[in-house]
Amino acid sequence: MIKNEIGLFDSGVGGLKILEGLRKTMPHENFVYAFDRSFAPYGTKSEKAIIKRARTITEILLERKVKAIVIACNTATAVAIEHLRASYDIDFIGVEPPVAPALKVNGNGKILLLCTNLTARSHRLARLCCVRDDIIIAPQKDLATLVEDNFLNLYAINEQIEKILAPYKDEKIKAVALGCTHYYYIKDKIAKFFNGVPVFTATDGVCNRVKSLVRHSASSDGGFVKYLYL
Ligand code: DGL
Repeated sequence: MIKNEIGLFDSGVGGLKILEGLRKTMPHENFVYAFDRSFAPYGTKSEKAIIKRARTITEILLERKVKAIVIACNTATAVAIEHLRASYDIDFIGVEPPVAPALKVNGNGKILLLCTNLTARSHRLARLCCVRDDIIIAPQKDLATLVEDNFLNLYAINEQIEKILAPYKDEKIKAVALGCTHYYYIKDKIAKFFNGVPVFTATDGVCNRVKSLVRHSASSDGGFVKYLYL
Protein backbone atom coordinates (compact mmCIF):
# COMPACT_ATOMS: atom_id res chain seq x y z
CA MET A 1 0.00 0.00 0.00
CA ILE A 2 1.29 3.48 -0.87
CA LYS A 3 1.34 5.66 2.22
CA ASN A 4 1.07 9.42 2.39
CA GLU A 5 -1.70 9.66 -0.13
CA ILE A 6 -4.18 12.49 -0.35
CA GLY A 7 -7.68 11.02 -0.39
CA LEU A 8 -10.55 12.29 -2.55
CA PHE A 9 -14.11 11.18 -3.07
CA ASP A 10 -17.16 11.95 -5.16
CA SER A 11 -20.25 10.11 -6.37
CA GLY A 12 -18.53 9.53 -9.73
CA VAL A 13 -16.53 11.33 -12.40
CA GLY A 14 -17.07 14.92 -11.18
CA GLY A 15 -14.26 14.86 -8.66
CA LEU A 16 -11.83 13.64 -11.31
CA LYS A 17 -11.70 17.25 -12.49
CA ILE A 18 -10.43 18.24 -9.04
CA LEU A 19 -7.97 15.35 -9.11
CA GLU A 20 -6.70 16.54 -12.51
CA GLY A 21 -6.05 20.00 -11.05
CA LEU A 22 -4.32 18.59 -7.99
CA ARG A 23 -2.04 16.39 -10.08
CA LYS A 24 -0.93 19.46 -12.03
CA THR A 25 -0.49 21.56 -8.89
CA MET A 26 1.21 18.84 -6.83
CA PRO A 27 2.74 16.43 -9.35
CA HIS A 28 4.78 14.52 -6.79
CA GLU A 29 1.93 13.67 -4.45
CA ASN A 30 0.13 10.32 -4.43
CA PHE A 31 -3.65 10.25 -4.47
CA VAL A 32 -6.40 7.78 -3.76
CA TYR A 33 -9.74 8.52 -5.41
CA ALA A 34 -12.93 6.88 -4.19
CA PHE A 35 -15.60 6.59 -6.89
CA ASP A 36 -18.79 6.26 -4.95
CA ARG A 37 -20.89 5.21 -7.92
CA SER A 38 -22.97 2.73 -5.98
CA PHE A 39 -24.41 5.59 -3.93
CA ALA A 40 -24.86 8.07 -6.81
CA PRO A 41 -26.40 10.53 -7.27
CA TYR A 42 -25.81 12.39 -4.04
CA GLY A 43 -27.90 15.39 -4.98
CA THR A 44 -31.27 13.69 -4.73
CA LYS A 45 -30.59 11.97 -1.40
CA SER A 46 -31.28 13.22 2.10
CA GLU A 47 -28.80 15.20 4.13
CA LYS A 48 -28.70 12.41 6.72
CA ALA A 49 -27.89 9.77 4.09
CA ILE A 50 -25.02 11.81 2.65
CA ILE A 51 -23.52 12.53 6.07
CA LYS A 52 -23.59 8.82 6.92
CA ARG A 53 -22.07 7.90 3.56
CA ALA A 54 -19.36 10.56 3.87
CA ARG A 55 -18.40 9.06 7.25
CA THR A 56 -18.17 5.57 5.75
CA ILE A 57 -15.90 6.78 2.96
CA THR A 58 -13.81 8.83 5.38
CA GLU A 59 -13.20 5.68 7.40
CA ILE A 60 -12.19 3.73 4.30
CA LEU A 61 -9.71 6.49 3.41
CA LEU A 62 -8.42 6.76 6.97
CA GLU A 63 -7.62 3.05 6.96
CA ARG A 64 -5.21 3.84 4.16
CA LYS A 65 -3.66 6.50 6.38
CA VAL A 66 -4.30 9.36 3.99
CA LYS A 67 -2.86 12.69 5.08
CA ALA A 68 -5.85 14.84 4.06
CA ILE A 69 -9.27 14.30 2.52
CA VAL A 70 -10.60 16.36 -0.37
CA ILE A 71 -14.35 16.19 -0.64
CA ALA A 72 -14.35 16.59 -4.43
CA CYS A 73 -18.06 17.18 -4.45
CA ASN A 74 -20.15 20.25 -3.67
CA THR A 75 -23.10 18.28 -2.34
CA ALA A 76 -21.11 16.28 0.21
CA THR A 77 -19.20 19.42 1.18
CA ALA A 78 -22.40 21.38 1.66
CA VAL A 79 -24.03 18.94 4.03
CA ALA A 80 -21.23 16.88 5.58
CA ILE A 81 -17.97 18.81 5.90
CA GLU A 82 -18.78 20.37 9.26
CA HIS A 83 -19.82 17.00 10.72
CA LEU A 84 -16.67 15.35 9.42
CA ARG A 85 -14.41 18.08 10.78
CA ALA A 86 -16.04 17.72 14.18
CA SER A 87 -15.55 13.95 14.22
CA TYR A 88 -12.15 13.18 12.69
CA ASP A 89 -8.71 14.54 13.34
CA ILE A 90 -7.61 15.15 9.76
CA ASP A 91 -7.83 18.08 7.34
CA PHE A 92 -10.92 18.10 5.12
CA ILE A 93 -10.87 20.37 2.09
CA GLY A 94 -14.22 20.87 0.39
CA VAL A 95 -15.51 22.32 -2.86
CA GLU A 96 -17.68 25.43 -2.61
CA PRO A 97 -19.61 27.05 -5.46
CA PRO A 98 -17.41 29.82 -6.95
CA VAL A 99 -19.85 32.61 -6.26
CA ALA A 100 -17.27 35.23 -5.20
CA PRO A 101 -15.36 35.36 -8.52
CA ALA A 102 -18.64 35.33 -10.45
CA LEU A 103 -19.86 38.36 -8.50
CA LYS A 104 -16.70 40.26 -9.49
CA VAL A 105 -17.61 40.13 -13.18
CA ASN A 106 -18.32 43.67 -14.37
CA GLY A 107 -21.61 44.83 -15.75
CA ASN A 108 -25.28 44.51 -14.98
CA GLY A 109 -26.78 41.10 -14.99
CA LYS A 110 -27.25 38.08 -12.82
CA ILE A 111 -25.16 35.16 -11.64
CA LEU A 112 -26.56 31.75 -12.45
CA LEU A 113 -25.56 29.19 -9.85
CA LEU A 114 -26.10 25.63 -11.04
CA CYS A 115 -26.05 22.97 -8.34
CA THR A 116 -27.77 19.81 -7.13
CA ASN A 117 -31.04 19.84 -5.21
CA LEU A 118 -29.36 19.00 -1.94
CA THR A 119 -26.73 21.73 -2.30
CA ALA A 120 -29.47 24.23 -3.13
CA ARG A 121 -31.33 23.34 0.08
CA SER A 122 -28.23 23.40 2.31
CA HIS A 123 -27.64 25.93 5.08
CA ARG A 124 -24.05 26.21 3.91
CA LEU A 125 -25.13 27.55 0.53
CA ALA A 126 -27.58 29.94 2.18
CA ARG A 127 -24.70 31.31 4.24
CA LEU A 128 -22.45 31.64 1.19
CA CYS A 129 -24.96 33.42 -1.05
CA CYS A 130 -27.30 35.04 1.43
CA VAL A 131 -30.47 36.03 -0.34
CA ARG A 132 -29.58 38.27 -3.23
CA ASP A 133 -31.62 39.31 -6.20
CA ASP A 134 -28.61 39.05 -8.48
CA ILE A 135 -27.96 35.34 -7.82
CA ILE A 136 -30.27 32.78 -9.35
CA ILE A 137 -29.89 29.45 -7.60
CA ALA A 138 -30.88 26.80 -10.12
CA PRO A 139 -31.13 23.30 -8.63
CA GLN A 140 -30.75 20.47 -11.12
CA LYS A 141 -32.25 17.07 -10.37
CA ASP A 142 -30.82 15.07 -13.29
CA LEU A 143 -27.85 16.98 -14.69
CA ALA A 144 -25.12 15.20 -12.68
CA THR A 145 -26.48 11.81 -13.72
CA LEU A 146 -26.76 12.94 -17.33
CA VAL A 147 -23.08 13.90 -17.32
CA GLU A 148 -22.04 10.78 -15.40
CA ASP A 149 -23.80 8.47 -17.84
CA ASN A 150 -22.53 10.24 -20.96
CA PHE A 151 -19.17 11.63 -20.00
CA LEU A 152 -17.41 9.69 -22.76
CA ASN A 153 -19.82 11.07 -25.35
CA LEU A 154 -20.96 14.49 -24.20
CA TYR A 155 -22.10 15.48 -27.69
CA ALA A 156 -25.02 13.12 -27.16
CA ILE A 157 -26.49 15.34 -24.48
CA ASN A 158 -26.25 18.75 -26.16
CA GLU A 159 -29.99 19.01 -26.67
CA GLN A 160 -30.83 17.97 -23.13
CA ILE A 161 -28.42 20.54 -21.74
CA GLU A 162 -29.98 23.26 -23.87
CA LYS A 163 -33.43 22.29 -22.56
CA ILE A 164 -32.18 22.43 -18.98
CA LEU A 165 -30.67 25.89 -19.50
CA ALA A 166 -33.53 27.29 -21.60
CA PRO A 167 -35.53 28.75 -18.65
CA TYR A 168 -32.58 31.07 -17.88
CA LYS A 169 -31.92 32.24 -21.44
CA ASP A 170 -33.78 35.53 -20.99
CA GLU A 171 -32.44 36.32 -17.53
CA LYS A 172 -29.49 38.49 -18.64
CA ILE A 173 -26.88 36.17 -17.18
CA LYS A 174 -23.44 37.81 -16.85
CA ALA A 175 -21.62 34.83 -15.31
CA VAL A 176 -22.25 31.24 -14.29
CA ALA A 177 -20.95 29.56 -11.14
CA LEU A 178 -20.76 25.78 -11.34
CA GLY A 179 -21.82 24.37 -8.00
CA CYS A 180 -21.36 20.70 -8.86
CA THR A 181 -18.13 19.11 -10.03
CA HIS A 182 -19.94 16.98 -12.60
CA TYR A 183 -20.91 20.15 -14.47
CA TYR A 184 -17.24 20.99 -15.06
CA TYR A 185 -17.34 18.62 -18.04
CA ILE A 186 -19.93 20.81 -19.79
CA LYS A 187 -18.41 24.17 -18.89
CA ASP A 188 -17.80 25.13 -22.54
CA LYS A 189 -21.31 24.16 -23.61
CA ILE A 190 -22.77 26.33 -20.84
CA ALA A 191 -20.56 29.28 -21.81
CA LYS A 192 -21.61 28.91 -25.44
CA PHE A 193 -25.31 28.73 -24.53
CA PHE A 194 -25.02 32.06 -22.69
CA ASN A 195 -23.07 33.75 -25.53
CA GLY A 196 -19.62 33.35 -24.03
CA VAL A 197 -20.17 34.61 -20.48
CA PRO A 198 -17.49 33.54 -17.97
CA VAL A 199 -18.21 30.21 -16.31
CA PHE A 200 -16.43 29.55 -13.02
CA THR A 201 -15.31 26.35 -11.34
CA ALA A 202 -13.71 25.93 -7.94
CA THR A 203 -10.72 23.89 -9.11
CA ASP A 204 -7.98 26.50 -8.67
CA GLY A 205 -9.22 27.54 -5.24
CA VAL A 206 -9.34 23.95 -4.03
CA CYS A 207 -5.89 23.14 -5.41
CA ASN A 208 -4.32 26.20 -3.78
CA ARG A 209 -5.98 25.36 -0.49
CA VAL A 210 -4.78 21.75 -0.58
CA LYS A 211 -1.27 22.86 -1.48
CA SER A 212 -1.15 25.28 1.42
CA LEU A 213 -2.42 22.73 3.93
CA VAL A 214 -0.73 19.51 2.99
CA ARG A 215 2.89 19.03 3.81
CA HIS A 216 4.94 17.24 1.22
CA SER A 217 7.23 14.54 2.48
CA ALA A 218 9.89 12.75 0.48
CA SER A 219 8.05 9.46 1.04
CA SER A 220 5.08 10.75 -0.91
CA ASP A 221 7.16 11.15 -4.06
CA GLY A 222 5.63 9.29 -6.94
CA GLY A 223 2.63 10.96 -8.53
CA PHE A 224 0.58 7.75 -8.34
CA VAL A 225 -3.19 7.51 -8.26
CA LYS A 226 -5.11 4.58 -6.84
CA TYR A 227 -8.82 4.28 -7.66
CA LEU A 228 -11.29 2.68 -5.30
CA TYR A 229 -14.64 1.64 -6.77
CA LEU A 230 -17.25 1.66 -4.04
N1 DGL B 1 -20.26 15.88 -8.12
C1 DGL B 1 -21.15 16.10 -7.08
C2 DGL B 1 -21.33 17.53 -6.65
O1 DGL B 1 -20.42 18.30 -6.86
C3 DGL B 1 -22.27 15.12 -6.87
C4 DGL B 1 -23.37 15.07 -7.85
C5 DGL B 1 -24.38 14.02 -7.49
O2 DGL B 1 -23.97 12.88 -7.26
O3 DGL B 1 -25.57 14.36 -7.43
O4 DGL B 1 -22.31 17.93 -6.11
